[in-house]
Amino acid sequence: MFITTKLARARMGGDSVAPSLQQSLDRLQMDYVDLYLVHSPFGYKNRGNGSLLPRDQTGRLEYEHYDAVKTWREMEKLVDAGKVKSIGVSNFNSVQLDYVCRNARIIPVTNQVEVHAYLPQYALNEFCRSRGITLTAYAPLGAPRRADVYQRENDPVLLEEEIVLKIAKKYGKTPAQILLRDIVQRGIAVLPKSSTPSRIKENIEIFDFELAQEDVVALAELNKRKRRFYDMLWMAEGHPDYPFTVAY
Ligand SMILES: NC(=O)c1ccc[n+]([C@@H]2O[C@H](COP(=O)([O-])OP(=O)(O)OC[C@H]3O[C@@H](n4cnc5c(N)ncnc54)[C@H](OP(=O)(O)O)[C@@H]3O)[C@@H](O)[C@H]2O)c1
Repeated sequence: MFITTKLARARMGGDSVAPSLQQSLDRLQMDYVDLYLVHSPFGYKNRGNGSLLPRDQTGRLEYEHYDAVKTWREMEKLVDAGKVKSIGVSNFNSVQLDYVCRNARIIPVTNQVEVHAYLPQYALNEFCRSRGITLTAYAPLGAPRRADVYQRENDPVLLEEEIVLKIAKKYGKTPAQILLRDIVQRGIAVLPKSSTPSRIKENIEIFDFELAQEDVVALAELNKRKRRFYDMLWMAEGHPDYPFTVAY
């Protein structure tokens, strides 16, 4: 078991970081977690009423700009205190990550971002690698049952792509296993979510085969469809720290 949890967007202010982790530890009934992540570079106001999605009277989310370095210094203190083994970030772009790295005592161990064949994140992966940061892929299967706010008409279905099905047949593996193997083979950690025991097992069984270069190249063609499923616009459109406006 490797336990990861995240710092909520309304808890990124200096005073809130340590108590927020402690609340998570209490709920998990643990003394430490393996990894603690800053959930995103954009934050919300802490209203002191327990709300993680604070809204004003008109129902708008209450955005807040937090200096990522100040938040990061609090994260570093958690490592010093033995409350977390490692610290990292999520949904940071290269500019935001560079700012943290230039001012960090402890370099983020990972950046957890959306990665799949429609959004392979080549440039961000290169950037992270050059800083000694790993990439962790969320939605590696293309988030087939994502929430309504992330659904768009005519969205492509990654697990049903013809090339994925063809390669799966060639290796005697499932489409999910091909997509996961493709990412793992690039040295990226994957987080396939499943609440189905048989799929959890299936998603682990990807270390007994290797995709040939020709198949890796064929899968890379899917990149042309360029689709980010989790654009996070409903929660951060117009936020000064919204991350997905730069190239990577
Ligand atoms: N850091 C962030 O901001 C962030 C944002 C989004 C997501 N995430 C995390 O990333 C993880 C994955 O994201 P996600 O759930 O959106 O996308 P995903 O892992 O690409 O897709 C999960 C969906 O695929 C199904 N599935 C799993 N294994 C399968 C298989 N072998 N064959 C067919 N279908 C399969 C699951 O169904 P069943 O459960 O019914 O098996 C589930 O509906 C989650 O744990 C999530 O918390 C993080």
